[in-house]
Amino acid sequence: MPAAYSIQEHKFDMVVVGAGGAGLRATFGLAQKGLKTACISKVFPTRSHTVAAQGGISAALGNMGEDDWRYHFFDTVKGSDWLGDQDAIEYMCREAIPAIIELEHQGVPFSRTMEGKIYQRPFGGMTTRYGEGPPAQRTCAAADRTGHAILHTLYQQSLAHDAQFFIEYFALDLIMDADGVCRGVLALDMSEGTLHLFRGQGTVLATGGYGRAYFSATSAHTSTGDGGGMALRAGLGMQDMEFVQFHPTGIYGAGCLITEGVRGEGGILRNAAGERFMERYAPSVKDLAPRDMVSRAMTLEIREGRGVGEHKDHILLDLTHLGPEVIHEKLPGIAESARIFANVDVEKQPIPVIPTVHYNMGGIPTNFHGEVVQLRNGDPDAVVPGLYAIGEAACVSVHGANRLGSNSLLDLVVFGRAVANRCAETIKPGATHSTLSRDACDVALARLDRLRNSSGGTPTSVIRDKMQRTMQADAAVFRSGETLSDGVRKMREIRASFEDVRVADRSMIWNTDLLETYELGNLLDQALATIVSAENRTESRGAHAREDFPDRDDANWQKHSLCWVDEKGNTRIDYRPVHMYTLTDDVAVVPAKKRVY
Ligand code: FUM
Repeated sequence: MPAAYSIQEHKFDMVVVGAGGAGLRATFGLAQKGLKTACISKVFPTRSHTVAAQGGISAALGNMGEDDWRYHFFDTVKGSDWLGDQDAIEYMCREAIPAIIELEHQGVPFSRTMEGKIYQRPFGGMTTRYGEGPPAQRTCAAADRTGHAILHTLYQQSLAHDAQFFIEYFALDLIMDADGVCRGVLALDMSEGTLHLFRGQGTVLATGGYGRAYFSATSAHTSTGDGGGMALRAGLGMQDMEFVQFHPTGIYGAGCLITEGVRGEGGILRNAAGERFMERYAPSVKDLAPRDMVSRAMTLEIREGRGVGEHKDHILLDLTHLGPEVIHEKLPGIAESARIFANVDVEKQPIPVIPTVHYNMGGIPTNFHGEVVQLRNGDPDAVVPGLYAIGEAACVSVHGANRLGSNSLLDLVVFGRAVANRCAETIKPGATHSTLSRDACDVALARLDRLRNSSGGTPTSVIRDKMQRTMQADAAVFRSGETLSDGVRKMREIRASFEDVRVADRSMIWNTDLLETYELGNLLDQALATIVSAENRTESRGAHAREDFPDRDDANWQKHSLCWVDEKGNTRIDYRPVHMYTLTDDVAVVPAKKRVY
């Protein structure tokens, strides 16, 4: 071990990495169950990316019309294009109802109906009567700032339950023992420049997605997939990385999100001719088709010359007919974003929009308790002891090949809560920690030392820019064998160029050069896993649209991809079966069929 580094050790029952919606729901739940819990976060908790979630959180409360959690289950399976695990989807859709009532009781300021119930709006792909009935009003909203409302409430609850926060601590690497058990995480206190080993009987990765592997994304610049990067370095495989969601309505040029709630409130997408083109692509649900379909339709309109603007390269989102009352009451946030980032008064002008990277369906594979699973000795569901993952960092898999809007905030709270419930059953408060070998942190420290003293010829920002542009061009809404193989070749070169990275700042305190380099390392491995898995999957399913393989191929591809990336950038692919079974007889398995709306 490099002698220059000393480490302070902290012992907790549980360590949560990340303080977004999933991390905070887990943190306060674990503390509430009597487990001594640390939450470490690289940003102040209420600055986590969940704060940017707008349109809402789904649950079949039926406050504004007929609904049933079984309809929600059906829609989510269909939305996933039959790649979602049906046991986990049953769990999420059933638990949605108590999880949201809990949030209400904890103080989330939801918008209200005239009777005082939680307000719910329609969202894409959410229907009633197993797809045969009218659209469901299932998305519970706090105007268009739902993530903000939920995140603040969860942070307050975590403080109320005496969880201990370590804020502006950057997680460097997982500490695994020789038996493959996770014993905790090594982190850097960014402001003091000191190193800390957080020991836990369980470590929960709630670090969010890796949207910043792309050039234009709705996600925060902090969305660098730090949990996934650490998992890959710990030798774990990532699941379904080829499935990257493009949100149909990112502001053209700026990438900021304009919520699907706009279309839920009646907003309409129009091409250069002013045509409501979604009527041609999804005749029954139109603008409220699932995101993969709307993004493809917009891309085709642009390709076929019906795009808007000087370069005919975007689409318009029209809400001028909604009237000031709806806009002020239900959509105040996006009115402000449109004014600031597109110079548009939404009461008078449409918003220029374009499909923008928004969400990673893939991630660290888990079961519905949040326990990390791996394919081991033929067992596809082997649990990695001591390690959990939740939220966008994880792949449960409830979203399969395409997530429905408003199922993400739900995933955060349901599985944050699930992990707390599971650990309350399996972990004894105050249990003695096993002894760690003296060299347990050596690999992590050697990496830190190497990156801190990197004196190559390529600045971090140059490698990052190349990665983002390659992913944007070659792993886009539509993909082909040609773009993907070109993209894989380029990503392998870009990943290799990380060996030549230059970090100019050698200090330990507020060394953002070093931290951005760590983030880049995390992004590079996941970008590579994404494009390699995309090249490997020779079918189209959900968000993975191959022009050379336009059809879904259940016989060969109804399976989860797993991808490993070793320290040299070599990749390996394998598979896990999709769970085509439910947890109970309360709901029937939805057999795969053609996905039309
Ligand atoms: O459009 C939105 O408000 C985003 C919601 C989501 O991604 O679930």
